[in-house]
Amino acid sequence: MENRIVDRPWAEHRSAHFVLRFPVGSLAERNAPSVAARLEGVREALVTAIELAEVGSEPIRLALVETVADESAGEAATPSPEGGAIVERGQIRAVYRSDGPGKGLERALVELLLASGLSLRADRAGALIDGLLGHVTQTLDRLDPSALRRALLDERRRDGPIALTDILQRAAAEPRPPVYYQVVTSFVSYLLATEGATRFKVFAREFDAAVPDRAGDAAFGKPLAVLEQGWLGSLKAGDLGALPGIAAFLRRSATYLRPYWRQEALILVGVLFTAGFTVLQPFAFKLLIDRGIAQGDYRLLTGLIVGLSLLFIVQSLASLNGEYLNARVAAGVLTDIRLQLFRHLQRLSMGFYSQAQLGDLMSRLSSDLYVIQSAMTGVLVQGMYLVLVVTTSTIALFLLEWRLALLAVICTPLVFLGPRFFGAKAAEASYQQQEQNAAVTSTLQENLGAQAVVKVFGLQDRALATFREQVAKLAQATIRATFIAMLLGMAGELTVTFIQLMTLAVGAFMVMGGSLSLGSLVAFIGLLGNVLGPMHGLSSLMQSLQLATGGMRRVDELLAEEPQIVDAAHAEPLGRPAREIRLDGVTFSYTGEQTTLRDVGLSIPVGQSVAFVGPSGCGKSTILNLILRFYDPVAGAVTIDGRDIRTVTQASLRGQIGTVLQDTFLFNTSVRENIRLGRPDASDGDVEAAAKTAEIHDLIVSLPQGYDTVVGERGVRLSGGQRQRLAIARAMLRDAPILLFDEATSALDAQTEAAINQTLATLAKNRTTVTVTHRLSSVVRADRIFVLEHGRLVQHGSHAELAARDGLYRQLWQQQEGGVPASDAARLQTVPLFASLDGALLAALADRVVTERYDDGEVVFQEGQQGDRLYVIAQGQVEVVTTGPTGAERRLAVLREGHYFGEMALLRDVPRSATVRARGSAMLLTLDRGQFSTLLRSMPDLRAALDRVVDARARANRETLGV
Ligand SMILES: Nc1ncnc2c1ncn2[C@@H]1O[C@H](COP(=O)(O)OP(=O)(O)OP(=O)(O)O)[C@@H](O)[C@H]1O
Ligand SMILES: [Mg+2]
Repeated sequence: MENRIVDRPWAEHRSAHFVLRFPVGSLAERNAPSVAARLEGVREALVTAIELAEVGSEPIRLALVETVADESAGEAATPSPEGGAIVERGQIRAVYRSDGPGKGLERALVELLLASGLSLRADRAGALIDGLLGHVTQTLDRLDPSALRRALLDERRRDGPIALTDILQRAAAEPRPPVYYQVVTSFVSYLLATEGATRFKVFAREFDAAVPDRAGDAAFGKPLAVLEQGWLGSLKAGDLGALPGIAAFLRRSATYLRPYWRQEALILVGVLFTAGFTVLQPFAFKLLIDRGIAQGDYRLLTGLIVGLSLLFIVQSLASLNGEYLNARVAAGVLTDIRLQLFRHLQRLSMGFYSQAQLGDLMSRLSSDLYVIQSAMTGVLVQGMYLVLVVTTSTIALFLLEWRLALLAVICTPLVFLGPRFFGAKAAEASYQQQEQNAAVTSTLQENLGAQAVVKVFGLQDRALATFREQVAKLAQATIRATFIAMLLGMAGELTVTFIQLMTLAVGAFMVMGGSLSLGSLVAFIGLLGNVLGPMHGLSSLMQSLQLATGGMRRVDELLAEEPQIVDAAHAEPLGRPAREIRLDGVTFSYTGEQTTLRDVGLSIPVGQSVAFVGPSGCGKSTILNLILRFYDPVAGAVTIDGRDIRTVTQASLRGQIGTVLQDTFLFNTSVRENIRLGRPDASDGDVEAAAKTAEIHDLIVSLPQGYDTVVGERGVRLSGGQRQRLAIARAMLRDAPILLFDEATSALDAQTEAAINQTLATLAKNRTTVTVTHRLSSVVRADRIFVLEHGRLVQHGSHAELAARDGLYRQLWQQQEGGVPASDAARLQTVPLFASLDGALLAALADRVVTERYDDGEVVFQEGQQGDRLYVIAQGQVEVVTTGPTGAERRLAVLREGHYFGEMALLRDVPRSATVRARGSAMLLTLDRGQFSTLLRSMPDLRAALDRVVDARARANRETLGV
């Protein structure tokens, strides 16, 4: 190619991995060594960052042309005149000009290395190339990653969420979004840090901005939305900020103190008075000594002493009043911050609480607040006093004896040496101490709540070991904090004593030399005490300020926590749902680490009852959490009647929902109040009605204080099943159109559960019920069953449909019930009366079937009762017994799963000829005559088919009997 350069000859520069070629005499020639060094650096950083082993050993050739005309090499692909660089057949061609030297060179290098090392395609993965370039330059130039993070957080605060997918797709777009480089850099750094280089390489190889989820799935098993969530979380986690300075603390304090300005003003008056007394006192002493004592003036002497005593009394009263007011302000401020924090905590979302530690929160609301409050109010009185006394006393010192004053003043800054050296350390130590304190509280709290587990598993020693370790850490932190504080105090004391001794010495010489009166020296020393004393006090003030800045930081951290779930700006209330609750392409992750739900799409029609089933941890409760909007999906949407629930107010959404969560929470108050929480304005009658539907009324009235019985913290005084029923009563009381039940009956015996399910079935008539359960037998009646596995919706349909299909549902059923779940229709078919019916007719019949549960020994019906329904055994056994003439019972038969009895009752009103009792718990499908005959009326086909069966059987009977 060189032979085609017309005007100038070319030269080259070689480094370990590069051959740079450039026109002789060009800017590139002059800069070649530094360009090569930089490229070597980028290459090295990239190879290290992603462990790129496969890069060829052949040196990379670069052609650096000077002007566009220079690339008269005439090749088709040429760098743009703006100074770009292009990669072409393993080489880089770039324009190297003074107005943009080497622009694009590094990117071209990254592109080339990735293309050869990873077969990365620049057209698809442009954003990753840019991100990697950002990542390596950050390492190379030792840039502070937190600056990048802060920039992104600011951007998010200003312009709302950063749409990662969108940004990744705009690598080639012009103009690029404002934070494009920051985003891609930060995202690549995040992926490398959390997923490691090996998996990152898979990600990069698969990456195609047009199909954003593919690479994430292939490399980490996570769709892009989940990666994005993790990345955003990492931005936030690092954003702790610096320890606030004392000035910042004072500014914050001022906002808290503002409402109390009246009291503050009164306090100030008191302080003025005290300060005045303090400053004037030395002068009185001067008078006392120089005039009273020295000249034997008794009148002056008594006058002064009486005057001083009176002033002292008034001063004491004023300062008493000040202290009282101060205490009031302190209490007020503490209350304000406490309320502010509590209010804030109510706003925070479930996501926060699933990560936060209770004990830590508790200590932020208690010990942190105390140090803040004591510093804030202490500073106020003491600070004002200090300023007043120090300034006036200093002026007085100069008036008394300016030379001595000058000497003292020159030495005063020494007082600040201590805080200067130890101040920051003290604040940090105090912060650490508070942190350790919180850790201890957390452990303690957890342990106290977990005593049963501790005892059962004999964890006392372990618990003690953990606790011992934490207490030791706390002790260490405390020692450190105390020691530093002590150093601070001692440094102050030392300097004060030093200054006092020095002035005393100089002053004594002046008195002896006659240039200063004794009274003046006494007054001077007194006034100096006024200046230095407060200065010394200042260091203890500083100490409490340092403590408080630590505390303030922890409080501010909590206040800075933004609720993830907030009402949208124009959120409107949600009305009563009319059509459906839908999940569309919902993907969700709690932490950005695991994908909890993946692309779940389903519809829950209003008025239906649906159930979620699936193995533990498959995401059932998570779906309820999303419907309740405890969390927002990372991709996709939950809609009600077509409205994204993110656009309606949370209060109105949750107002439509009655919920029994998997973990029942009861407050330490009466049973009545616990139920009433479902609807605070409910009357006692309503509460009791709800308790009845939840099958708990009888139990409650049998308690010593009935509905007024206090349930204990978290309801410890009730059994698990009783707690659950209280929670159900609470949800029932809410009388909401949507009911969410998460394992709501898991702790109940079969009979109570069946009774509640029965009530639920009636209640569910014009409601939408969503049930999550592991007991498959209790969902057979659901209109729709959704089967989840590993966060995916794998099956859905009615019990009959799912039971008929191979799949997870069938497997679960087999494991649980020990057999293949015959669908209701299939079971009905075992009844000879229905044996010849076709699928559609059977399905119609199956729709009328009701499931009933019986406990061991429970009577299904009694001999002699009028019968009105058919029973098919879905599960368990029953025995058929009859009472003989002697009154003794005789067992006629034991019937098992698949058997039926009472067929005749469907057709005719006949008394039962025997008693039927459950043996063990049993589940029976029942079809009642009323239902059956309406069905017969509406379905002539069914009627005809049954007539044929009955005719045939009658004929057969006649034949057998020979009539
Ligand atoms: N607050 C949380 N933070 C992080 N991960 C969570 C959180 N809650 C649940 N998970 C995880 O999400 C997954 C789904 O949990 P989910 O509670 O939805 O399961 P589930 O189907 O209700 O299980 P189970 O039948 O045991 O109640 C689990 O793997 C769980 O570890
Ligand atoms: Mg669950």
